[in-house]
Amino acid sequence: MRMYDIITKKRDGLALSEAEIRYFITEYTNGNIPDYQASALLMAIYFNDMTDEERGLITMAMTESGDMIDLSAIEGIKVDKHSTGGVGDTTTLILAPLVASLGVPVAKMSGRGLGHTGGTIDKLEAIPGFHVEITTEEFINLVNKNKAAVVGQTGNLTPADKKLYSLRDVTATVNSIPLIASSIMSKKIASGADAIVLDVKVGSGAFMEELEDARELARAMVSIGRHVDRQTMAVISDMNQPLGKAIGNALEVKEAIDTLKGHGPEDLTELCLTLGSQMVVLSGKSGSIDEAKSLLKEQLTNGKALEQFKTFITAQGGDASVVDEPNKLPTAQHQIELPAQADGIVAQFDCNSVGAAAAMLGAGRTTKDSVIDLAVGIVLNKKIGDHVHEGESLATIHTNHADITQVKEKLYNSIHIQDEEVKLPTLIYDTITNS
Ligand code: URA
Ligand code: CA
Repeated sequence: MRMYDIITKKRDGLALSEAEIRYFITEYTNGNIPDYQASALLMAIYFNDMTDEERGLITMAMTESGDMIDLSAIEGIKVDKHSTGGVGDTTTLILAPLVASLGVPVAKMSGRGLGHTGGTIDKLEAIPGFHVEITTEEFINLVNKNKAAVVGQTGNLTPADKKLYSLRDVTATVNSIPLIASSIMSKKIASGADAIVLDVKVGSGAFMEELEDARELARAMVSIGRHVDRQTMAVISDMNQPLGKAIGNALEVKEAIDTLKGHGPEDLTELCLTLGSQMVVLSGKSGSIDEAKSLLKEQLTNGKALEQFKTFITAQGGDASVVDEPNKLPTAQHQIELPAQADGIVAQFDCNSVGAAAAMLGAGRTTKDSVIDLAVGIVLNKKIGDHVHEGESLATIHTNHADITQVKEKLYNSIHIQDEEVKLPTLIYDTITNS
């Protein structure tokens, strides 16, 4: 087989065979295909797309390019959840105990990564004593015993995706539906998911800024799921403002605790119930989304989700008393208000800039090795549609630096206030259960 012929075929708009796709993925991962040929193929895919069948094939070829986590020793259907990334997204911290409290196994493999705040693991490490350095065996035992556990990413997962993603980044081929969809799905499957729930974000703080693009990506992933025998559902949710109110690691743990107590921010609660109900249906614990949702709502009011969170924290060495005494979480030295500069109505957030402001405070990593300040971040006091008076606090900035002039300026520039009434954003644009 020759790479030249594979490029030619895709350039001419033809579908690649399983053997051709496997050859490309395996040989590129092994360093036997040069970047210039891989780049040419990626660009041909960018312009000529892939059929549903090709998308399934490239997903499985990437999945099998490295280690695959075997979670078969965990009883039940393991449903994983993935978000395409947003600002202040606290959902995983809530969904793990919430869904597990209904007896659905949640075996979460998570990363740290770069971003405005840390990843799920960094957030959990804001809880004193909590650790994710457990062996795969312990991880499996914990899920069987308590229904929920979180472990740091181990092993050599999807090396093909790592190499291809870096190449796409420098060849203007990131933004291709078949390439994004196969990249995301391969990582979930390699981490051991039997079924997958996807939260595809759309808006100013999301990878996809247009609803139609988000919908196409969601449909593509649900369809890949069907081709590779992993039932998949997707939600398309709004990211035109941060989710909930808190952006920052310990602050998001507090927000998760509030939500598990049944009095979290409305948008965060609603999104968790929607994603959670899909997870419960895919696990087979309920036959309908509506039923699953009311079961989950009950777990928030009867205290069982909160109880599950405590069990989960204790099992991984954490101090579960933070749930009743959240002031035991890391706290920043200064809490500084951001007063509104005029009367009006909050109309719009430049969501990525709000995230960047949290990162400037130290809530996120700028390089792989930077150290996160778990205590710092931003708590929004106003969201889209809220009326504000001059001098009223738009947000509370939790910081360990007294001088935050630049952070304030960035926040002022990213919160737009106007005189006219504004249309409230839709939280959930669509749910895709079959394509
Ligand atoms: N996120 C991924 O994991 N892969 C992509 O290709 C794009 C976003
Ligand atoms: Ca939040």
